[in-house]
Amino acid sequence: MVGHDLRNPLQATAGTLYLVKKLLSSRHVEDMMEAVKLLEKLHNQVYYMDKIVSDIQDYARPVGAKLIETNVPDLIREATSDARIPRTVQCSMIIEGDLSNAMTNPILLKRVLTNLINNSVQAMPKGGRLTITALKHQDLLTVSVQDTGVGIAPASLEKIFNPFFTTKAQGQGLGLVVSKRLVEAQGGTITVKSKMGEGSTFTITIPSKIAGAA
Ligand SMILES: Nc1ncnc2c1ncn2[C@@H]1O[C@H](COP(=O)(O)OP(=O)(O)OP(=O)(O)O)[C@@H](O)[C@H]1O
Ligand SMILES: [Mg+2]
Repeated sequence: MVGHDLRNPLQATAGTLYLVKKLLSSRHVEDMMEAVKLLEKLHNQVYYMDKIVSDIQDYARPVGAKLIETNVPDLIREATSDARIPRTVQCSMIIEGDLSNAMTNPILLKRVLTNLINNSVQAMPKGGRLTITALKHQDLLTVSVQDTGVGIAPASLEKIFNPFFTTKAQGQGLGLVVSKRLVEAQGGTITVKSKMGEGSTFTITIPSKIAGAA
């Protein structure tokens, strides 16, 4: 399956590289501009292949969850920039309280957020609003990713955390199962609320003390 999933973006990458090479050997400015556009496409293809490999690794390997002091707002910013949000999606972040030194496993948390943000962006092909909210109540850190996308059909809702369940032409169905695994490795939970045509909210809750607190 992985071989099959990687073949499409690999073939696309090979094709794009061939075209870029041809365009760069021309002396016309328009050809150069076209090459720049294709390089952006190439970037997306490589990003997609990287996601496939990362998800497979996260799905297969044991996860240790060492907690360190984490600046949660910075981590959310990094995840949104990794997810390459298109201009048609208006992104906002709501942080309640001081989350600059919460104890988390930042690598796992960022992988989860990137997956949730990717799903939200893919659910809003015509654009929309993405809102990421983070807050801490006692020793629980809650981060939710809300979109105004297509929503999830009730029949799908019970399957979305199953491995390889996908409704996308270009999807592996691993993003959520991996996210759930990584959240649970931190002793946390992940829940979803969704309404067809209105959007979805995924909420992760993980135990997290503020660094230095008793
Ligand atoms: N925010 C969302 N809005 C609408 N549907 C969603 C959302 N998040 C997940 N889904 C549904 O859940 C399914 C499973 O999501 P999951 O992230 O596990 O896999 P995927 O996105 O299809 O593929 P990939 O492995 O590339 O992440 C999706 O195919 C989609 O139908
Ligand atoms: Mg996904």
